[in-house]
Amino acid sequence: MARVLVIGGGIAGLWAAVKATDAGHTVELVTKAELAEGNTRYAQGGIAAVLFPDDSAERHFADTIDAGAGLADPAAVRVLVDEGPSRVRDLIRFGVAFDRGESGLERGLEAAHSRARILHAGGDATGAAIERALIATVRRRSVAIDEHTMLLDLLVEHGRAVGARLLATSGAVAQRRADIVVLATGGSGCLFRHTTNPSVATGDGVAAAWRAGAQLADLEFTQFHPTALAAPGTPLISEAVRGEGAALRDALGHRFMFDVDPRGDLAPRDVVARAVWRRSLEQGGAPVLLDATALGSETLARRFPGLDAVVRAAGFDWAREPVPVTPAAHYAMGGIVTDLHGRTSLPGLFAVGEAARTGVHGANRLASNSLLEAAVFADRAALVLDDRWPDSTGFARTGAEAAGGAGGAPSESESGEVVDRGELRELMWRHVGLERDARGLAEASARLADWSAAAPRDRRSAEDRNLLDLARLTVAAALARSGSLGAHFRTDDPAVATDSATASVGAAPAPALDREAA
Ligand code: SIN
Repeated sequence: MARVLVIGGGIAGLWAAVKATDAGHTVELVTKAELAEGNTRYAQGGIAAVLFPDDSAERHFADTIDAGAGLADPAAVRVLVDEGPSRVRDLIRFGVAFDRGESGLERGLEAAHSRARILHAGGDATGAAIERALIATVRRRSVAIDEHTMLLDLLVEHGRAVGARLLATSGAVAQRRADIVVLATGGSGCLFRHTTNPSVATGDGVAAAWRAGAQLADLEFTQFHPTALAAPGTPLISEAVRGEGAALRDALGHRFMFDVDPRGDLAPRDVVARAVWRRSLEQGGAPVLLDATALGSETLARRFPGLDAVVRAAGFDWAREPVPVTPAAHYAMGGIVTDLHGRTSLPGLFAVGEAARTGVHGANRLASNSLLEAAVFADRAALVLDDRWPDSTGFARTGAEAAGGAGGAPSESESGEVVDRGELRELMWRHVGLERDARGLAEASARLADWSAAAPRDRRSAEDRNLLDLARLTVAAALARSGSLGAHFRTDDPAVATDSATASVGAAPAPALDREAA
């Protein structure tokens, strides 16, 4: 039995902690803020799984592969769709009360799904319901929980992860040794000026894994959600609202999505986000509008109670008037490369949830597959925690050139101009956003190279170091991928990338980033 250190308190970390404890391991869970804080809690739309007779794993598989724009790994997607329903049943056993109607579980439709298969809870509060149930479940186990404790770096000895350096709110740094480290630290939406993510999403685990020599891939694929409310904080307006019949309109009231894609408002997320961005530019920067008036005030309040409150608090009566929306950074498709059990290229280190790049999402994640991926792959990781690390997990060291130049060196330095987070986020939004080109990426790369990060002494400076490392790696990855694919759209090379061969763990097409080779 192993001593397991789980880092992160969202669905993936909590799931891994529960299942590892049930498997007999000794588990400690640390998390940067209070346990409930993270992207999971804010997930609205729900969790996709095949649970209804008119649906099939084959359909969910095909939808996920199609949305992934040719880059999703079929083996990983197969695992996701086959094991997903069992994990959703586990969630129900853990106490998640998914919404029910007279004929049983309710289900919603979201973009690029060929069937309504999205389970939701509290209308639009699915993530919060899952987080609550898993926290209650973990608290019933003998898991040691340290809140307000941030990962600084991984401890690596003889080519193996053996624990982590952790930072407490007091500024004290401690080394925590473990047989196994599970990174469940989530995504990095805070790299961008506009994001739907909370302020904890600074890519801490991905950056630390890279500094420790683990392989990363697909960092150029940031998912931008098409409909954040164009109001301070850019709160997310779930795709489920369009699934219920809301429509995007331009300033003239025209439903422009059908000019772009026959699937209209329910085209894959990368397509809709880009069209929203383009149309807004074409109308002089004025945001496009989400028209939910046809749903009526009663449906909006019943089906989307959280959103109803948010939209109204921002001063809009969305039952009577269309509301302004804008794209915002939402999800990282790339991350720490794992095999189908969450093992990374660094023995002793697992990665699960948004921090991991399992290959499931390819170049564009299908809506509501993220909570599912976290549950499915955290569950699989917990099954193999004390197995011998495979001699060859098949992690290819390809595409290392993408980590060269500005992307290749860690950013911590005693000299140079200290990174300014606000400017970094603005730079990434402007040059590494929904549309990129070589000139803008080169400009971003040069500016990022000017900066260094101070030695981390508190949460803010530790996050800044991670953001700078990840910004450099993301720009290097975007420069390395010519052509356009999914969420990575190059205006100077809009043709679909020819190197869009399906990714598989161990054979990441491009660019896989590992520090040793950089
Ligand atoms: C949404 O509710 O639109 C977001 C769901 C997701 O990110 O999958």
